[in-house]
Amino acid sequence: MSNMLENTVYGGPKPQSPSQRVTVNHLRQKHRRGDPITMVTAYDYPSAVHIDFAGIDVCLVGDSAAMVVHGHDTTLPISVAAAPSPVAPPARSSSATFLSAPTSPFPPRLMAGLAVDIAVRFLKEGGMDAIKLEGGAPSRITAAKAIVEAGIAVMGHVGLTPQAISVIGGFRPQGKTVASAVKVVETALALQEAGCFSVVLECVPAPVAAATTSALRIPTIGIGAGPFCSGQVLVYHDLLGMLQHPHHAKVTPKFCKQFGHVGDAIKKALSEYKQEVESRSFPGAAYTPYKISATDVDGFLKELQVMGLNEAATTAAAAAEKVETAGTPSEDAC
Ligand code: KIV
Repeated sequence: MSNMLENTVYGGPKPQSPSQRVTVNHLRQKHRRGDPITMVTAYDYPSAVHIDFAGIDVCLVGDSAAMVVHGHDTTLPISVAAAPSPVAPPARSSSATFLSAPTSPFPPRLMAGLAVDIAVRFLKEGGMDAIKLEGGAPSRITAAKAIVEAGIAVMGHVGLTPQAISVIGGFRPQGKTVASAVKVVETALALQEAGCFSVVLECVPAPVAAATTSALRIPTIGIGAGPFCSGQVLVYHDLLGMLQHPHHAKVTPKFCKQFGHVGDAIKKALSEYKQEVESRSFPGAAYTPYKISATDVDGFLKELQVMGLNEAATTAAAAAEKVETAGTPSEDAC
């Protein structure tokens, strides 16, 4: 299908050549050079395009959508069934696009099979480049290995794994005791052995993240794990300061810097829109672009009268006169 229409009519983003798409190899090269890898979540086409334009390496179609897009308190309500349509648009960007596999809670004995099915489906239907899989329980390690063996790149995820909050007892940092810190390193090593090309470290103390990063050959991507990781990831809505409602205040994590205050801009724009519609100043002449010639107006008025719609004809005549007096912009494009 051609994308001429999008480019010519809307002046949208240029089609990305496949060679521009960030791949797992690009990420490995960055890691080898010691260049930080950047990753941001996105859940739809506009956010993916923003990420793409900013040159972010990886767009993560995260299950955090359950919280920041759908307003739930946890990531658990996200369903496999709901995911294919939201993932398709981000897959069009040139940032590598990874999907957080919504695999919790799955029965451990079925885990590998189900996870492979999900991963295959999202690569085929969603155009993903890789899958992110949370957790380091034996069944998860087996699942990661099985997905890699199926030919799909896997990013692991250790530390706080939000799909396991039932076991962890809430959104709690991990690696804060000797045993827990060792477990973070061991789990990351096991995921590396299973074939993961990278591991997310979520909410662990900086020394634990530093040790894990040093122990691994593959890159670590930190979120709430301090600066000693191979890269960083944040949730789109959180880093943009997108939301202002009470739920957001409740769940915005401490480690998230707000790099923007987009929520303020949205609130201001919506209030202005409401005010201008209510005061009838929008849409004025400047935003009433479609014209009808005086001759066609006359013909139209006559037809309305024939139809017995005299009041409509009077209203249309008054509108034509008002619009004529105000002057309208050209209607070359939509
Ligand atoms: O899946 C997700 O959205 C995540 C981010 C919080 C990094 O894991």
